[in-house]
Amino acid sequence: TTVEWEAESYDMGGHDTYMHKEIHEQVDAVDRVLRGRIDDRFATVRLGGLNLDAREARGVRRVKILGCGSAYHTGLIGAQLIEELARIPADAEPASEFRYRNAVVDPDTLYIAVSQSGETYDTLAAVQELKRKGARVLGVVNVVGSAIARETDGGVYVHAGPEVCVVSTKCFTNTAVAFALLALHLGRIRDLSVADGKRIIAGLRRLPEQIAEVLRGEEKIKELAAEYANAKSMMFIGRVRGYPVAREASLKLKEVSYVHAEAYPASELKHGPLALIEPEVPTVAVLPDDDLLEKNRATLEEIKARSGRILAVAHQEQEKADHTIVVPRNEVELDPILMGIPLQLLAYHTALALGRDIDKPRNLAKSVTVE
Ligand code: G6P
Repeated sequence: TTVEWEAESYDMGGHDTYMHKEIHEQVDAVDRVLRGRIDDRFATVRLGGLNLDAREARGVRRVKILGCGSAYHTGLIGAQLIEELARIPADAEPASEFRYRNAVVDPDTLYIAVSQSGETYDTLAAVQELKRKGARVLGVVNVVGSAIARETDGGVYVHAGPEVCVVSTKCFTNTAVAFALLALHLGRIRDLSVADGKRIIAGLRRLPEQIAEVLRGEEKIKELAAEYANAKSMMFIGRVRGYPVAREASLKLKEVSYVHAEAYPASELKHGPLALIEPEVPTVAVLPDDDLLEKNRATLEEIKARSGRILAVAHQEQEKADHTIVVPRNEVELDPILMGIPLQLLAYHTALALGRDIDKPRNLAKSVTVE
């Protein structure tokens, strides 16, 4: 399939930065990654370029996702979605680590390379090493016809449109949605029920309007950014579904605002990083309304007891938090996709408040095509 970019030229379209423009393009971008792919009759999705038939898909015993930077973080979300919806053991690893460690390549594992540009050298080198050892490798890539798209056996195009800002926003979100599609597809070939397939499809269809709703809350997030911009460091936490969101939000803040940030699984806080908590080190807590919410609330209490400030991202106001960004509820499996979006705005407005060069942060490049 080909997608036209008419609506999204390189023009700034009234925005002061590409980052701001690309954050706001997510409503349309998510609509585009879904378009033409949903199959209501069988409660599944059709992925034309996957090049993996049903029999082969059933033979997959494990999924390993590889990428760098934000692409690696979408891989963490993707691995959770594949485990949850398709019940195939899945994990993600930085491609840059994988390629250097003489990994055991298993014929029953499906490898997936993730990349916005499709040109990141570390990811490409991992693909080439896997191919050399006879593995099946798919790509989840934004740029059509890029090196990784060409060297993989098939895959899913992300259709985010051109992303100019060095830090990834709309491509991150669209890649997570692409993984939801892949997970749904694999799940429906295996044991995911029709009812669950329909539930996930309905959730996917709600995403564009819910993203628009999150973006309408920008003024409040701008005020919060001003409040937290002078932090010495920021701690980002989440449990299971919230954790990859925390990882990406922490990376985004570091990249674009140069504020030091750390991401930790909420459950690991008490095993060390709790020592850092003080009023100058606020915590951003990602709290989906799943079966771990009570555990997460207990973690907030531990932070409060150390006089830490808390900014929660949740589906309802959090009593223990100093501030809450309320995000609409979707299906629990898809909540991480929505919860990342206000934190893109938080990073953006923090960088703006600090006068940073938002579209071209120091020391960074859009794609790293060398060793
Ligand atoms: C660079 C960019 C990151 C990006 C990463 C992977 O390091 O600064 O923002 O996430 O490359 O890029 P890719 O094009 O492979 O997704």
